[in-house]
Amino acid sequence: MERVIIFDTTLRDGEQSPGASMNQAEKLRLAIQLEKLGVDAIEAGFPAASKGDFEAVKLIAEKIRNTDVVALARASKEDIDRAWEAIKKAARPRIHTFIATSDIHLEHKLKMTREQVIEAAVNSVRYARTFTDNVEFSAEDGSRSRRDFLCKVFEAAIEAGATTVNLPDTVGYAMPDEFAELISFVRDHTPNIHRAVLSVHCHNDLGLATANTLAGLRAGARQAEVTINGIGERAGNTSLEELVMGLYTRREHVGLNTRITTAEIYPASRLVSMVTGIVVQPNKAVVGANAFAHEAGIHQDGVLKNRMTYEIMEPETVGIVSNRLVLGKHSGRHAFRQKLGELGYDLTEKELNGLFEKFKELCDKRKEILDEDIEVLVAEEIFRVPGTYELDYLNVVSGTVAVPTATVKMKIRGKAAQNAGFGVGPVDATFNTIAKMTGTRSRLLRFTVNSISGGMDAQGEVTVRLKENRLIALGRGADPDIITASAKAYINGLNRLEYMKRNPSLTPDESRL
Ligand code: KIV
Ligand code: ZN
Repeated sequence: MERVIIFDTTLRDGEQSPGASMNQAEKLRLAIQLEKLGVDAIEAGFPAASKGDFEAVKLIAEKIRNTDVVALARASKEDIDRAWEAIKKAARPRIHTFIATSDIHLEHKLKMTREQVIEAAVNSVRYARTFTDNVEFSAEDGSRSRRDFLCKVFEAAIEAGATTVNLPDTVGYAMPDEFAELISFVRDHTPNIHRAVLSVHCHNDLGLATANTLAGLRAGARQAEVTINGIGERAGNTSLEELVMGLYTRREHVGLNTRITTAEIYPASRLVSMVTGIVVQPNKAVVGANAFAHEAGIHQDGVLKNRMTYEIMEPETVGIVSNRLVLGKHSGRHAFRQKLGELGYDLTEKELNGLFEKFKELCDKRKEILDEDIEVLVAEEIFRVPGTYELDYLNVVSGTVAVPTATVKMKIRGKAAQNAGFGVGPVDATFNTIAKMTGTRSRLLRFTVNSISGGMDAQGEVTVRLKENRLIALGRGADPDIITASAKAYINGLNRLEYMKRNPSLTPDESRL
């Protein structure tokens, strides 16, 4: 079997999903999980986009040892300098430079001739090669470019030293048979193509990203650019879990494999969902809550008789474990540390101590603590931004006859404060009171509640998206009481907005490519 190189761009294209920005600690944590998953390359960000992106890429480059760490750069000297500065300490650095090649981009966006585009591509690849021999070149909007021109650009880029050439379906316009044919054309008409790895990068605007990527690989491409949960610009990118499990499940048919440790897929999916606040749709292939649930009686009967009647993959293969070690009131520090280790968290003694206290508090409220509860604890405690606001006490009165009223005590920059307010419902009353006390004027863009785990005593996980001027922040909170979870999420979002205001350079730039 031939191996496909898995290039993960969750931290770059994935972060371009509306509202998906992550802070540095979250990005690093995710990069560590991606390394554990066994991806071959991690595109860590776009260093020229903002100081925040630069710092995050640098941090990841310094920590990750077993995977290529890739930095994106436009076809310009300044971008490439910045990219190299960020990844130069990586064990396996890769510069990824790109320029658009379609007529529509040349005419309206770049205002460049074809000759100028070839020159820019050659110069940028040559310049990148002065830093590293691991250079990728992408022809943005490649699938809508003139085929002969695309081959010319690739030929010139390879001649200049590109070791990977990537053909993106930037706007998700291609159809699988057409995309496969394009890949074959490029292979047949680019004389030096055998000197580089041919890569595909598909977007999901028509829901065809995975199909197009598979078609491209079957036509001879050997690198696939993907994201966890398929997050990414607009409708997203090819999802890693769909592609990898497609290759794995149908290996006899496709004849291609990957280096991915499939049992790390589900933990990676959970982590991405948690740090971005983008909930995985229940019917999402491979990692959705219903992906392995059998509802119809005939199906349940079949599965009980033989799983393979209605299951083409086993949940355990992707890391969905049914017999999980459940923690509770009597679990000690040792079991807690072991569980954190199993979930992939390597915490310092100080972090562990703080977290263990919170864990014990949660045990007083819930009988069983599941992995999902622990993940949320980690997210709340370890990834927490320095707090300007802290919730001390919340009492809410609501119901069919009462005017919803919230009484809140909190610390604002260390000082105790107390107030009460009304709203159209208990959450509205809580948010109104907190906004009044903190003097903040953010707009609530999104509010979602999820049950973290099943059962009547399940924790509710609330995610809010707040906007203040140009800044958008995500806030998360979890608690068995969903109004308290809402208050925690709202305060977490406000703290993140404050953090962004204090560190404008670390704030992700909303208008990148
Ligand atoms: O979709 C795209 O064209 C990209 C390139 C920068 C590779 O993300
Ligand atoms: Zn893209």
